[in-house]
Amino acid sequence: MPEPLYDTLYHRLEKVRWNMSDIPFDQIDKSAVSAETLQFVRVNCLMELSSLYATRMFLRDFQNNPDFCQFQSIWYFEEMRHYLVLREYLKAFDAEPDFTTLGEYDTDLKEAPWPNTLAMHWCGELRLGRWYLQWSKAAPEPVLKQVYKLIAEDEFRHAQAYEDFMERALEEDPSLLLPFANASKWMLVNPQGDKHPTTYGAGSADGRAVTERIEGYGGLQQWIQDSVPDEVERSLEGRVLKTLSRLSGTVLQSRTDLVKLTLRLQADASSAPVPSNPSA
Ligand SMILES: [Fe+2]
Ligand SMILES: [Fe+2]
Repeated sequence: MPEPLYDTLYHRLEKVRWNMSDIPFDQIDKSAVSAETLQFVRVNCLMELSSLYATRMFLRDFQNNPDFCQFQSIWYFEEMRHYLVLREYLKAFDAEPDFTTLGEYDTDLKEAPWPNTLAMHWCGELRLGRWYLQWSKAAPEPVLKQVYKLIAEDEFRHAQAYEDFMERALEEDPSLLLPFANASKWMLVNPQGDKHPTTYGAGSADGRAVTERIEGYGGLQQWIQDSVPDEVERSLEGRVLKTLSRLSGTVLQSRTDLVKLTLRLQADASSAPVPSNPSA
């Protein structure tokens, strides 16, 4: 019987975890930070708050996977710290979001098949990690640079954890490769669209994206387009294809190869014999 992933992930992540006290908030060079940068950090801070809504969704939609739900205790803790570390940064400027208004951003995410959600979050973490690395490079102030670098490293570790859960799920049910590949394909296509799994409108129960509720989100979208070069998306695509090649045992060198894989898997699934007693 394999060891639960939570048991190993807990120790793996504990070893490399940073502390809020490591960050020299008292050394922020305020003269290097423009009003525009503060607005960016503020929107970014509110975006990180969306892990709250995502955690409710994860615990609901993954209730048949206690190992994954246990891991959520770590993911939620680390994601909520992203919100807090950005909030602490903003406090140095008296610019943190008003705590009493945070309920305005709350949303319920629609129920969705868990394999798709898992693969979307895997791709989402890989993309966010790359964005944060870019923002760390572009940050005009050293403490902000440090904060963004730490968040980037967390997001990459989360991606690895989600990948581990995908791999574990495939060991038990190889047919999950199709939803994993389909969700990854969706995440890679048209990356300019709102593709983060916890903030896109279609995922929200009332059809209103979290980001629509955040004043100034349009500016952040523009900043993403300005600060994230095309090569970042190419790097993401390469990383996703490399992992899916390993998991599928098929060499995938392009998105076209990924499309062909999904078509082949779909055809295989359609021609598979239907069990005589589906409830058995
Ligand atoms: Fe985060
Ligand atoms: Fe993350």
